[in-house]
Amino acid sequence: MSESSGDYDYNPLYLAGSVPNIDVFFPINDPLVGSLYPSPITLKGVTFKKRIFVALMCMYSSNKEYTADWHLVHLGTMAVRRVGAICMEATAVVAEGRIGPEDASLWADSQIPPLQRVVRFGHSQGIKVGVQLAHAGREASIFSP
Ligand SMILES: Cc1cc2nc3c(=O)[nH]c(=O)nc-3n(C[C@H](O)[C@H](O)[C@H](O)COP(=O)(O)O)c2cc1C
Repeated sequence: MSESSGDYDYNPLYLAGSVPNIDVFFPINDPLVGSLYPSPITLKGVTFKKRIFVALMCMYSSNKEYTADWHLVHLGTMAVRRVGAICMEATAVVAEGRIGPEDASLWADSQIPPLQRVVRFGHSQGIKVGVQLAHAGREASIFSP
């Protein structure tokens, strides 16, 4: 087929592989993107591919109590750079325990899928993903910080 016909002959040699055992396509990015601190480290039986871990960072960017595209992009961009681990920001376990109304939230089953999307993407890049379960205590507020 010619390119002008809009129908291409794909040569598999030129196609990126996809991450296995996930029901959507993520490019496998092999060899690894990035080269800083490539040496792995094992802590309490868990092996991290790199020694850079991303600190927890509240984004105050949830969409009405749900993890948003913002989180996927914010953490996902670090995930594709193959740090050893990322961690979801302070994530409220009850509504009244939030620092503010846009906090990441995880007190209802319906809040799992959008958060799972971030975790799954991190795993697709071969990195560990944590979630900081949080309650703001007396610093909880109904106002944005
Ligand atoms: C924008 C921003 C958001 C943060 N959000 C959190 C958070 O959600 N949970 C937390 O425990 N620490 C949070 N921190 C603190 C950082 O995780 C980290 O502990 C702090 O930046 C000090 O890091 P350092 O000791 O490596 O300098 C935040 C820091 C920043 C700059």
